[in-house]
Amino acid sequence: EGQKLWGGRFSAKPDALMQAINVSIEVDRRLWGQDLQGSRAHCRMLARQGIISQADADLILSGLDQIEAEIEGGAFPFRAEFEDIHMNVEARLAELIGPVAGRLHTARSRNDQVATDFRLWVREACDRSIQMIRDLQGALLDKADAHAASLMPGFTHLQPAQPVTFGHHLMAYVEMLGRDAGRFADARTRMNESPLGSAALAGSPFPLDRDMTAEALGFDGPMANSLDGVSARDFALEALAAASICAGHLSRLAEELVIWTTPQFGFVRLSDAFSTGSSIMPQKRNPDAAELVRAKTGRISGALVALSTVMKGLPLAYSKDMQEDKPPVFEAFDAMEVALAATTGMIRDLSINADRMAAAAGAGFSTATDLADWLVRELNLPFREAHHVTGRAVRRAEELGVGLADLPLEDLKALEPGVTMDVYAVLTPAASAASRTTYGGTAPEQVRRQIAAWKARLEDE
Ligand code: ARG
Repeated sequence: EGQKLWGGRFSAKPDALMQAINVSIEVDRRLWGQDLQGSRAHCRMLARQGIISQADADLILSGLDQIEAEIEGGAFPFRAEFEDIHMNVEARLAELIGPVAGRLHTARSRNDQVATDFRLWVREACDRSIQMIRDLQGALLDKADAHAASLMPGFTHLQPAQPVTFGHHLMAYVEMLGRDAGRFADARTRMNESPLGSAALAGSPFPLDRDMTAEALGFDGPMANSLDGVSARDFALEALAAASICAGHLSRLAEELVIWTTPQFGFVRLSDAFSTGSSIMPQKRNPDAAELVRAKTGRISGALVALSTVMKGLPLAYSKDMQEDKPPVFEAFDAMEVALAATTGMIRDLSINADRMAAAAGAGFSTATDLADWLVRELNLPFREAHHVTGRAVRRAEELGVGLADLPLEDLKALEPGVTMDVYAVLTPAASAASRTTYGGTAPEQVRRQIAAWKARLEDE
């Protein structure tokens, strides 16, 4: 039983409830790969430093290989009585190789062991997220490329504001995702130090080579303070913060897909592969994947709140509270990964109703700003006055039931005598979008410039 690994000073068995609250194997079994990695590095270092014999180290390493094969083959006995992944591995090692197994834990504690395993896991999760963000950016770039000049309404307050290009709109998400990837990368850089060798909390009297284990595990070096080594979970918080922000971006895109796929908007269509039907309403075509991406944000941001709450006020060094670090992190990254993958799938498959979007781009007097700008540029009106004249033109167009581009010249002249036929050239959505050539603006040439820059950047990686 698990007690055998620590039960020397006890005479009575733990209550069943003690095991119920203490057990974590169903959650932390996911750390098995990292646990083996950490144990191998520690074992080799112990032998190199003469702390255990090379023969014992070889036996331990062969036992760890066997355990790996058992886990991969589904034959490993994960047992609740051994509490967690670390003691399950150690107990199994003892069954496989005998008492020499007990030498592996020399100069190590589960405290630095779990801190190491978890850091390795979170580091890999950040790397996976970065890769998946790149895939999504790739899908967005391809769509943006195909629609660099396709018009759509740009909104503020979800009210028609000014025409933009669909490519420009998609590229806004490419930018957000670029910063998201940057946050995961920054978190990774900061977390890439090894806690191993911190031992229980105070370090070890054995001559450990912490640089050797750090290097073997791909860390930049050992953590400089053993108390911090076993107590720090800010690496996980930082990864969760990056995940929450990224999930927030995905949920905004998902929300737009939900809106755009309504028949009322009808801008885009999700593929059959990313739509669902209704069990009662035969006509339905629901954007469930987008809705679930939108909703996964709840779990991901919730995980950040959960772990920050667990960590706040914990005295140094290790407290068992910290075992509760894993469920939120695993849950958040599971959600993050499925959300990223599903979003990539939806975007790759997305078909665009370009005519409908272009028609909508001109609705709602969306070129009113262009009219005001024309009055400023051509007639030298102060912008405030141009704004007022244009507002009255919009009111007149509304009365006549026409768009600004169809407002008769005499109506415009009645408001501002200097207006000429030339004004109509700026009142189409295409002209409006094409005129916005400032750096970062919606003109197709600018959008293409940003697409090219991003493609080059992603190819460089
Ligand atoms: N399962 C524990 C965790 O995840 C491992 C560390 C246990 N350490 C201890 N001193 N009880 O945090």
